Order: sequence, then C-alpha cells, then structure tokens
Amino acid sequence: MFCLAGGNILEERYLKSRSDAVYKGPYKAPNRAYMKAMGLSDEDLSKPIVGVGAAWSEAGPCNLHAMMLGRKAKEGVAYMHGTPRMFTTPLVIDGVAMGSEGMKYSLVSREIIADTVELSVNAHGYDAFVGISGCDKTTPGMLMAAARMNIPSIVLYGGTTLNGHLNGKVITMESVFEAVGSFAAKRLSEEELKELENNAIPTEGTCAGLFTANTMGTMAEVLGMALPGSSAPPAVEGIKSDYAFESGKAIMALLENGIKPRDIMTREAFENAITVLMAMGGSTNVVLHLPAIAAEAGIKLTLDDFDEVGRKVPEIANMKPGGEHTMEDLSRIGGVPLVIKKLLDVGMLDGNTMTVTGKTLKENISSMNIREAANDVISEVSKPYRGSGGLRILKGSLAPEGAVIKVAAAKMLKHSGPAKVFDSEEDAFSGVAGGKVAEGDVVVIRYEGPKGGPGMREMLSVTAEIIGKGLGESVALVTDGRFSGATRGLMIGHVAPEAFVGGPIALVKDGDMISVDCEKGTLELSVERDEIERRKLEWKQPEPKHRRGLLAQYAKLVTSAPEGAILAP
Ligand code: FES
Repeated sequence: MFCLAGGNILEERYLKSRSDAVYKGPYKAPNRAYMKAMGLSDEDLSKPIVGVGAAWSEAGPCNLHAMMLGRKAKEGVAYMHGTPRMFTTPLVIDGVAMGSEGMKYSLVSREIIADTVELSVNAHGYDAFVGISGCDKTTPGMLMAAARMNIPSIVLYGGTTLNGHLNGKVITMESVFEAVGSFAAKRLSEEELKELENNAIPTEGTCAGLFTANTMGTMAEVLGMALPGSSAPPAVEGIKSDYAFESGKAIMALLENGIKPRDIMTREAFENAITVLMAMGGSTNVVLHLPAIAAEAGIKLTLDDFDEVGRKVPEIANMKPGGEHTMEDLSRIGGVPLVIKKLLDVGMLDGNTMTVTGKTLKENISSMNIREAANDVISEVSKPYRGSGGLRILKGSLAPEGAVIKVAAAKMLKHSGPAKVFDSEEDAFSGVAGGKVAEGDVVVIRYEGPKGGPGMREMLSVTAEIIGKGLGESVALVTDGRFSGATRGLMIGHVAPEAFVGGPIALVKDGDMISVDCEKGTLELSVERDEIERRKLEWKQPEPKHRRGLLAQYAKLVTSAPEGAILAP
C-alpha cells in the first residue's frame, strides 16, 4: 500500500485562514461555544479544520461503509494534528432506482452532492476536504466539489462488492437485470431468477464489474485525486480502512504544502483519465462526468477530446460488462496502478501530473512495488483486446452534436434497420417485453434526455430485456437518455441535441431507416431533407413533465449531454 510519512507536527503556517475567519478571536466566542458543546477544545480549534464528507445511506450496499471509512480518515487527520469534522451527503443508489421514476434523480444527485459538499465545507469554514464516495454519482460529485472549492482535497473511493458466485460462475448485478429478460422470455424459471437475486451481490460495496462506480473510482486515482492503489480493493477488505487513514494523513500534507485540486486536475490529468477510460473500456457515463468535473476546474473538455484519444488508445482490459472480469479481479493483480504503469511505460500517459501524494503520477508508480501475476484481466499494450479504445463518439444526421457507444461491450459494431420509436423508457420496456421489437429493429427511446426526462435515466432495464430476450446481437438501441455502466450490446446513448429541444431524434417515425457504423463513427437517419423540414414544422415541444420541485428546477437549468449535463451558471 502507498503510505505517507507520518508524525510531523505541523506548524502555524497552514492555510488556516478559512477556519480562523469562523473560529478565531473574541468576536467568534459564540461560534466556538457550539464547538465546545461537542467536546472540542481551544487547542482543537487552533488546528486546521478538515471536513470529512461521506456519501452515506442505507438505500443500498454501495456506500454502507462510507461512515466507517470517514471515521478512519478522521483518525488520520487527527494523527497529523488536524481537527476533523464529519458530515454526510445524500446519494441515489442507481441499481435500486433503475427502471422507475426514481432514476430521474440519479444524475441530479451528482449536482446535489457537489452542492452539499460546498455547502457543508464553506458554511463552516473548513480548511480542507476529504470525500468518501461509492455509488455512481458520488465520486464525480465529490470531485466536482473539490474542483469548485479549490481547497486542499482528497477523495477515497469506497470500493467494489466482492464477486457473486453461482454454480461455479462469477455473477454480478448485470446478471440479475438480464435474467429478468430471460425470465420474461420463459428461458429461465422463477427459482433460477431467485437464485441469481440471492447471490449476485454478496457484500457491501459497489457493483462488481467495470460499471460506472468502479470506472469513476479508477478516474479519481488517475486524475491524481485519490491515493495510488486505493480504488481497486474491495469495500470489505481491511486495506480499505488503511487507505482511509492514509487519506486523512495525506490531506494534512496537502494543506501544509498548499496543493489544491486545480494544481492536480489539469488538462493533462484529464487527458490521462480519458486515456485510461478508453484503455479499460469504462462506462459511457464518464463521458458526462469528466467534462462536468473539468468545467468546475475551468477546463473545457469536448466529445472531440474523447474521440481523438479513443481512436489511438488500444483497449487492454477484459472486464465486465463486455469482458469477463471484475474490479475484485483487477485488485488481485495490481489494481489501477498496474494499468497506469502499462500505459506510462509506452508513453501513453503524461507522468508529470501532480497527485495528492505531493508527487507526480510517475513518481508514485515508480515507488510502488507492482508485481504482475499471469492474468487475462489486463493485456500487454502491444497485444490489446481491441486496437482502439472501448468507447466511441458517433456523429451524423441523427446526432449532429454527438452520441456515445461502449464498443467494448458490443459484438455488433455496424447495423442498419427500421426504427421502432418509444417516447419513454416505460413504453420501450413494455414494447420490448410485449414482443413489439423484432430482429433487425433499431429501438429509439426519446424524451429521456437531460431536460426532457428530465435527468437522463439509464436504460438498463430495457437493454437487459433486449439481451435477456436473445435480441442483443440483432437489435440496436438509440436514445437521448443514457446507460448503466453494466449495459452491453449496440446501445447508443447521449444523442444530442435531445428530443425535448427539437433534435432530429424527435422527428424519427416508426419504419425510418437508421444506420450505425462504429468504425466510421456515424449515426445516420435516412429520411429525405424535405420530409425532415416538414416534420420540423409539425413538431411542438411537449409540456414539461414537472412543474414544481427539484426535477422542474433541474430541467430548467441543465445543459446538454456533450457539455456534461452541467447546470447553466
Ligand atoms: Fe451503486 Fe451499482 S448501484 S454501484
């Protein structure tokens, strides 16, 4: 494990101006009185105050241990003579909300988490921030807050669940989602479905494959915002709490040295992150999250940045949903540092980017004893599983501003077929389940974009139903919504402009021919120009689905998918 030197007594030269403004001097006696009610002393208040934010909830297993890790991080802060204060953020457990109205809150929660961290840290004058993340939106939310506040910050990703096992095979939650489709198609009994349900997620932690949570944990480490080696170990392993303690120590060193998130999350760091995303074939959701985090750091990332890197970086990971292995498997053979080392060795990463250790990415990797055992999880860069990256950006008449597909999880890379159009996820699910979709079709699900959904729901229930029905290699799906990291097949998401703002996807009719070519990077709607113009004149923007509350506010402010679905300033 990467350990920091410990025991230095820090001096009065930290960046403590933030907490001094709240807790120092006679005029702040009332503020201190509240602290003393909780057992803090004058000495405690004279030290740097570090906010430890744990995204915690009992809504699912993903973040169940975040409080425990937060307490360990607090110990690390105290060990280095800081004063930690813990708080929590809300979160959405995507797998639980999936396939319901609740999923509309998932992407929204990313902004809420970032705002909650900003609120808790800035309102109480904390000098630095440690974020404990887990489920999908929690890592990007924490990183957005760090970049926005730009005070010394570190993130610890809480880690994956252990692999599920059934009948000698490794299973994940993806297996259960797809089994629902098989059950509906009478290819699986209710008892078999129950067995999968009972065995898929054996422990706390996030979904096991290289889905969104594990991809974002990986991104935090590559960006330099998490300790080297901290992301891949499963949630239940003792080393995770060691990393929490070390993260608490590291934040004090960052504070002492004045190293801030924007010193770490530079353009070069984001390019490194995109390179690793492509090399591993990670989740399509990261194409939303990295631009959103970058925007908070004052950096503009576009789909072209992803496309450029994706065309030249080979895919070297054999991980679920497209491959065979899980984050636990990656952890056993060297974790994220192994991937970084392989790409550094061939010059595909910039090793000079700063990290939360106060050292560069390259220095961190050089100081680690990475011994790779024989495995089929990560290949040599010279013998990749695919010659180009795991994600592809598509453009064309159906998506003039772009769309995203995870080619790492698709066998069929080219398809042309008649559209079967649905105006919501629910309609699409019923359509697929009810046998309305046939081999060769292109399922179109629209009005599920950032504004139209609102919240860009993930279509995992529909894609799993397609796979479960045995249509995964003969049907394509196109949507202005998005996908779970567990989705596989020829599934194209993030189509922009979205239907709600009158993008071409709003004009598609049943039977129109749609062509996808992942090699060329195209997504075309074969309808005559005059006909498109006629349909445009007929089209009317639907009434917003929500008039009050969080989703109504979000729909008003959210920008497009290529902009990261951030909120307009
Ligand atoms: Fe939380 Fe999958 S539902 S990581």
